[in-house]
Amino acid sequence: MQILGIDVGGSGIKGAVVDTQTGELVTERHRIPTPKPSKPQAVAGVFGKIIDHFEWQGPIGVGFPAPILNGYTKMAANVDDEWLDFRAEEYLSGQTGCAVTMINDADAAGLAEMRFGAGQDQPGIVVVITIGTGLGTVLFSNGVLVPNTEFGHIEVRGKDAEVRASDAARKRRAMSWKKWGKHFDEYLNTLEKLLWPDMFILGGGGSKKLHKFKKYLTVQAKVVPAEFLNEAGIVGAALAAKEKPLA
Ligand code: BGC
Repeated sequence: MQILGIDVGGSGIKGAVVDTQTGELVTERHRIPTPKPSKPQAVAGVFGKIIDHFEWQGPIGVGFPAPILNGYTKMAANVDDEWLDFRAEEYLSGQTGCAVTMINDADAAGLAEMRFGAGQDQPGIVVVITIGTGLGTVLFSNGVLVPNTEFGHIEVRGKDAEVRASDAARKRRAMSWKKWGKHFDEYLNTLEKLLWPDMFILGGGGSKKLHKFKKYLTVQAKVVPAEFLNEAGIVGAALAAKEKPLA
């Protein structure tokens, strides 16, 4: 089945048509910068452009950087406050004329990794972390997703974890890989003490750079890079739309 997957990020909104059987993109990715401010109306406008670009008429899966409950966006850490407790699925379906299914962006990326990437056939507890503008977290127990975990916002040294250990924090504070790697290691150790995963999968922008900071990581769990580069969110969003009752 083919579904249009859209990944809403802090800096870009990316879309592509996905073959949900194979997890492969059927088209090139089309990227449009995230509007500032990222209000629902502006984001819907970008969706319209992506839909026109692909001349799309079918269902759409959307990965969005907030917990999603019954089609409502429940928080707004890196997007406009108008998304707070907003009936996003209904609004975006109305604006686009397509059936929109929403899923947390990190959960989408995690689904793709477990199904087609680094987490294939991995039993036990797996924590996927997407390292980007924020820190997205995904929890799997024997391959089953526990949705909407927000462990990017646990406190480390009295601060929201993503303020110290996201990729945006590294860039904003011009941290060396060593300095940032130690912050990130502290974050992983905090998570390990709470969840005792068998494996951490690191995705998002930071995953391509694992060789630069792996030597600073001291957790007991296996740490592996995500296999999808920047397509996981798009692929997982499409999967969520296909498997709506399970997502
Ligand atoms: C948000 C999460 C999101 C993550 C990655 C966090 O700030 O609260 O919902 O998954 O960023 O985008």
